Amino acid sequence: MKVKTKLTRTKKSLDDAPKKYVRVRVSEDKTSQVLLRDSSITEIACGVGKFKDITPHDFRLLVRKIVRTAMTQKYTHVALDLHTASFPKRDKIYTDEWVTASIAENIILACYEFSDYKSKKEDVHALTEVLVCGGMTKTQESAFQNGEIKAHYTNTCRDIANTAGGDMTPALLAKKAQETAKGTAAKVTVLNKKQIESLKMGMLLGVARGSRMGPRFIVMEYWGAGKPSKAVKSNKNTTKTKAGDKAKQPVVFVGKGITFDTGGLNIKPGDGMLDMHLDMSGGASVIAAVACAAKLKLKKNVIGLIPAAENAVSDESMRPGDILTSMSGKTVDVLNTDAEGRLVLGDALTYAERYNPKLVVDVATLTGAALVALGDDASAVLSPDEKLSWQIAEWGKESGDYTWPLPLWQVHKRYMKGRFGDVANLRTEGSGRYAGTCTGAGFLWYFADNYGKNCGWAHIDMAPRMTANALDNLAKGATGEPVRLLLKIAETY
Ligand code: BES
Ligand code: ZN
Ligand code: ZN
Repeated sequence: MKVKTKLTRTKKSLDDAPKKYVRVRVSEDKTSQVLLRDSSITEIACGVGKFKDITPHDFRLLVRKIVRTAMTQKYTHVALDLHTASFPKRDKIYTDEWVTASIAENIILACYEFSDYKSKKEDVHALTEVLVCGGMTKTQESAFQNGEIKAHYTNTCRDIANTAGGDMTPALLAKKAQETAKGTAAKVTVLNKKQIESLKMGMLLGVARGSRMGPRFIVMEYWGAGKPSKAVKSNKNTTKTKAGDKAKQPVVFVGKGITFDTGGLNIKPGDGMLDMHLDMSGGASVIAAVACAAKLKLKKNVIGLIPAAENAVSDESMRPGDILTSMSGKTVDVLNTDAEGRLVLGDALTYAERYNPKLVVDVATLTGAALVALGDDASAVLSPDEKLSWQIAEWGKESGDYTWPLPLWQVHKRYMKGRFGDVANLRTEGSGRYAGTCTGAGFLWYFADNYGKNCGWAHIDMAPRMTANALDNLAKGATGEPVRLLLKIAETY
């Protein structure tokens, strides 16, 4: 059961909106109520408090609140006029374009319901149309359109992520990548188990061993700035972009694609496994971001890499104490089979080397510890380059995908020293299990230490934003984060 809401615009004012639309009027007067003007026009007064006190995030939440309220009231046609309301430029990101883009984005994000599994139409809350009233400048118009496109791809990410674990295998995730990129200039290549074996991705293969559903390695390439001119062969017999061709050096996004995380033989207890079909949320966000970059025809080179596997329990599952040989050649002690995300990402981070990237950003639902550190309002970002972390945090505020820095220092790397292998997937040095998000990133660092001198690397632990929280004014389930942030990075970096 899928319903798509139409988003339309008119130069007309709210007062002139056709009668079939329920009019939502925003005012500073907090006593909001439903006003029935006459039998044919419904108008909702929406008191939001002093406009000057509304932060960018309040603004997003307001747009979503209006839409969600209309949905619960079962209104089918809603008209609103927000961008002419005098929201003061109290913040530097609060430009007219930002406001219009945010209106479009948040209407589409709020309209979303994951209703694929609902069989009855009446169980699906859906708006048929939202009409945005009031004139726009040309630049606002294109901001509005871009916002709408980005939000649609974000919703595609949510659809992919929300799909039940039994219906989402690595092969199906790869198919989703192909479907999502269809009609754009993004090229999708799917490597199967045999090809993954030839690449010697021992960590991805190790995680995938317990499941009959074989692994896939999904590669998405969008060369919006043109392929780097003189491709040279690297020592691994792969094409490398020529150093110095900076505008053409791609940004590489790596997304965790665990289609279900049982924990493996270190099986997740109790409710811990409940939402683990969402453990490919990082991968879904990378799929949507690369496809959207191509749809928007960004003049940038953007690559997406998604190592996909199911972390399952069987007599073939990798065992605690097993030692895997990674694609990089480093050997890895598997001390806990539930720390599988870092294993599959490690091999993908090595694979990223062949692109001679200017930036690598990986996205993963990596640790429960990120929720302990930050709650469920912001993802964590970690990078050896502190400035890059703060830059990503800033872009997060602007895009709406809040992301906040945690430290990543040499000690975090040292804590992950191997017992018998070179590296361990669980902290071996120092005391306790503290700073689990930092040590997770510390592990990844071993596989992100071989890029060019000027290449940045950041790790986004999006476990805190895997599912929407009660105050997000979004449908329950996947948030679609950080698709908009990844696009911001691709556009800006
Ligand atoms: N996918 C989980 C992390 C997770 C937990 C994401 C809760 C979202 C919500 C990951 O694979 C995992 O199990 N991590 C372990 C790591 C530990 C064994 C070092 C964790 O967080 O407990
Ligand atoms: Zn796990
Ligand atoms: Zn996991």
